[in-house]
Amino acid sequence: MTQLDDVKSRLDIVELVGGYVQLQRAGSSFKANCPFHQERTPSFFVFPDRQSWRCFGACAEGGDAFSFVMKADRVDFREALVRLGARVGITITDQVETGGRSQLLFEINDAARQFFQRVLAEPEAAFVREYLRGRGLDDRSLQTFEFGYSPARDNRLLAHLTNAGYEPQTIAEAGLARETEDGRFYDLFRGRLMIPIRDWSARVAGFGSRALDDNATPKYLNTPRTPVFDKSRILYAMHLAKEPVRQHGAVIVEGYMDAVMAHQHGFDNVVASMGTALTEHQVALVRRLTHRVTMALDGDPAGRNATLRSLESSWGVFQERDQRSANQTGTSVLQQPEALDLRVAELPPGKDPDDFIRHSPNEWTGFIESAAPLFDYLLAALTERVDVTSADGRSWAAQTMLRFVAHVPDPIKRDFYLDALAAHFGVDVATLRAAMPMAARQGGAGRRNNRAPATADEATTLPDHHGNAAEELVLKILLQHPDQFGEETVKSVRPEWFARSENREILRYVISLMEPNANDGDSVAPELEQHFQHLLDSDPVLSTPSKVEGALKQACLRLKREHSINQNSQLAIAMADEDLEDPDSTIASLWLESKNSLREIDLLRQPASPHNR
Ligand code: UTP
Ligand code: MN
Repeated sequence: MTQLDDVKSRLDIVELVGGYVQLQRAGSSFKANCPFHQERTPSFFVFPDRQSWRCFGACAEGGDAFSFVMKADRVDFREALVRLGARVGITITDQVETGGRSQLLFEINDAARQFFQRVLAEPEAAFVREYLRGRGLDDRSLQTFEFGYSPARDNRLLAHLTNAGYEPQTIAEAGLARETEDGRFYDLFRGRLMIPIRDWSARVAGFGSRALDDNATPKYLNTPRTPVFDKSRILYAMHLAKEPVRQHGAVIVEGYMDAVMAHQHGFDNVVASMGTALTEHQVALVRRLTHRVTMALDGDPAGRNATLRSLESSWGVFQERDQRSANQTGTSVLQQPEALDLRVAELPPGKDPDDFIRHSPNEWTGFIESAAPLFDYLLAALTERVDVTSADGRSWAAQTMLRFVAHVPDPIKRDFYLDALAAHFGVDVATLRAAMPMAARQGGAGRRNNRAPATADEATTLPDHHGNAAEELVLKILLQHPDQFGEETVKSVRPEWFARSENREILRYVISLMEPNANDGDSVAPELEQHFQHLLDSDPVLSTPSKVEGALKQACLRLKREHSINQNSQLAIAMADEDLEDPDSTIASLWLESKNSLREIDLLRQPASPHNR
C-alpha cells in the first residue's frame, strides 16, 4: 500500500467535509449548502459509502476527499495530500523525498556508467578490452551493453562523482560506495568489468561487475539492494528486448554474458535472470509482452536442484496470476491473455548459452524450439533423479509432482495434469487425487480467495475496483501512445469521469501537455511518480493503432457510463429526501436528465458480439 492509499483508508469524508460545512443527514447520505457557490437550498451531497461528494447545483462537480480539499483550500494535489496526511497522522514529506530521491539515484548511476565506460578506454584498461575481445565480444556489443571498467585504485569514482556535486552519502545509497566505521567512503567496485543494468524503463538501476582475475571472489559482484535496484525485479537486457519478445516470445538465460552473446548473434529476444531463480516479478515483466516464455538452463547439475525447487514454487504463482487475469476478463476491455506457456530447454552438461551460441549459433533456434513444457520437463527431471521402479522412489516423485499440480487453480487443467501423471506412473487417477494435498482437493477457487496477495506489490498492481481498471487503461493508452492522439481527443477525456484523484491528477497532467506553451519541466506530483511509472510501463498489449484507438473509445464510454450511473444513483439517494411531486425539484429534473444521458451512452456502446449474445 502506498502512503497515499494509507491516507485514504484512514480518512472519513463525512468528518472531513463536516469540518467545512454544516451537514444534515439525508437518507444514507448527507447534504449541505454547497461550500463552493451561493445557494439557498442544499444541492451539495456527501456519500459515505463511496467516500465521495457531489454538487448537483451550479458547480455540477464531485470527487473524493482529495479533490474536495484541493477545491475548498485552493491547493494543489501535493498540498492536499500533505494536509490530509496531517489529519490522519501521516507525514508525507518522506515520500516527497523518495520520489525525487529515486530520480537522483538513477542520475548518479548513469554518471557512474559514463565514467566506467570512459575508464575502459584508458591505457590502464587495455587488458580488460583484451579480455572482452578474448570472449568474442565485438565493438558493437561493447557499445550496446555499455561495458565499462572500474579503476582498481584511489576511489576514482567517488572523487569523480563528488566533484560533480553528489554527496558521498548519496553515492553510497546508490550502492556505488561503502562507508567505513570511522565515516570514510570508498568505491565498492574496484578493478572490475562493469555491466550497467537498466530497468524496464531503460534507467540505469544498478551494475553487475565481473572479476577479471579467475581466482578473485566473488566472480560477480552486483549492486546491493537500493531504492532503485532489486535484482529479483529486473531482467537484464529487457530494455533492448521488448519488441523482439513481443514478436517471438521471451528466452530467459541465467547470465549477463549469455544475454550479451545472444544479442550479438541477433537473438534479441533473450533476457537474463541474473543468476537468481526466476522470480514471479520477473515473469510478470515478460508477461506484459508475451505468453511464450522459454527458460534456457545451464547444463550445470549442481545448480539444478535449486532451480527445480524454485520452479515448483513459482509455478503456483504463475498459474494463479493467469487464473486471476482470466477471471477479470469481464471487467476489462482488453482481450483475455493467452495462458502462460512456460517451457524449459536444458543445455548440455558444462555448457551455458554463451558457449553454445559462440560455437553453434545456427543451432540456437532449434534448441529453443525443442524446449519442453515446464510440467513435462519437471516430470522427466524428477523421474531421472529417483529410481521409479522402487515403491519409495515412485511415491516420492508422484508426491512431488502432486504438490506442483495442487497449485493449479483451474480444475480442468488440474485434471489434465492428473491424467498425465496417472499415465506416467501407472497409478489410478482416483489414487492420485486422494493423495493430493487437502487444500487443492477442495477446489482452487476457495483457497485462492482466502489467500492474501503474496506481496504488497501484487496487491497494488491489481485493480482494486472495476472503475480503476478503465481509468488506468485510458491513462496507459494516452501515456504510451503520445503521438497518436491530438489535442481534441485528449481533451475529450473528462477528469470528472475519474473516481480516483491520483488518476484524475495524471489525466490533468496529460491534458496540460497538450497546451501549446506546455513546459517540459512540468511533471506529476512526486507522490504520484510511482503510479505514473506503473502506468507508463505496464501492459503494452495493444498491437495496432486502430486497436489502441478502439480500446480508448471503449474505455472512455465505460467511464462515462459509470460516471452517469454514479451520478444517477447519487441523485436517487438525494431525491429520497426531496419532494418528488414538486415539478421544480432540481434534483428530480437532474435525475431525469442523467437517466437520458445514460440511455444515450448505452446506445453508443458497441453492440454485443455474436458469441456473447
Ligand atoms: P554464472 O556463474 O553461470 O556466470 O552465473 P556466467 O554468466 O556464465 O559468467 P562467465 O561466463 O563466467 O563470465 C550466471 C549469472 O549469475 C549471476 C550473474 O548474473 C551471472 O551472470 N551471478 C553469478 C552472480 O550474481 N554472482 C556470482 O558470484 C555468480
Ligand atoms: Mn558463462
